[in-house]
Amino acid sequence: MRYRLLRKADVRAVHELGRKDFGAQTEFSWDWSLDSIGHYCKRSFGLGIVCVEKDAIVGFILAQKDYSSQKPNVSWVTYVYVVPEWRRHNVGSSLLDRAGERLRRMGKTDLIADIYAENEGSIKFFTRRGFRVAERWLLLHRKL
Ligand SMILES: CC(C)(COP(=O)(O)OP(=O)(O)OC[C@H]1O[C@@H](n2cnc3c(N)ncnc32)[C@H](O)[C@@H]1OP(=O)(O)O)[C@@H](O)C(=O)NCCC(=O)NCCS
Repeated sequence: MRYRLLRKADVRAVHELGRKDFGAQTEFSWDWSLDSIGHYCKRSFGLGIVCVEKDAIVGFILAQKDYSSQKPNVSWVTYVYVVPEWRRHNVGSSLLDRAGERLRRMGKTDLIADIYAENEGSIKFFTRRGFRVAERWLLLHRKL
């Protein structure tokens, strides 16, 4: 098992792996597209790290370097994913540690993650990795 930076050639595999969890969760989920994943290969935008086992990607993390211009020290973990067979084997934690280390070297001091309120496993994961709930917000919608 090894960890390395996301490459352009990984984008399709990452897109496929995350499709069920990130592509169709609600009609308002973030844009899970080949283009949007491709941005994480550009250091000016952020970074991606993949975990590879026997030539197959079994986990990935994608982080945006900048969350907001008002919070220049804050980076944003937008997606972290581990294939079901490899969950609870510390892969997600290793991805988070590696991304955190790189973001620190880019001058960042804080990390945020936003997750669906019903995603209890993921809330436990982030909580175990030292995150605390910082804001609670709702996405509202109406027809025009
Ligand atoms: C969330 C996810 C990335 C966790 O990856 P993982 O490799 O299983 O996590 P780890 O093995 O590193 O677990 C780290 C800690 O979180 C805990 N944890 C992880 N998943 C958990 C779950 N479903 N329920 C309870 N605790 C959990 C582990 O027990 C571990 O605790 P420890 O520090 O006491 O040992 C993985 O479950 C996943 O891909 N989920 C689907 C995608 C998703 O929802 N991503 C998050 C939103 S972007």
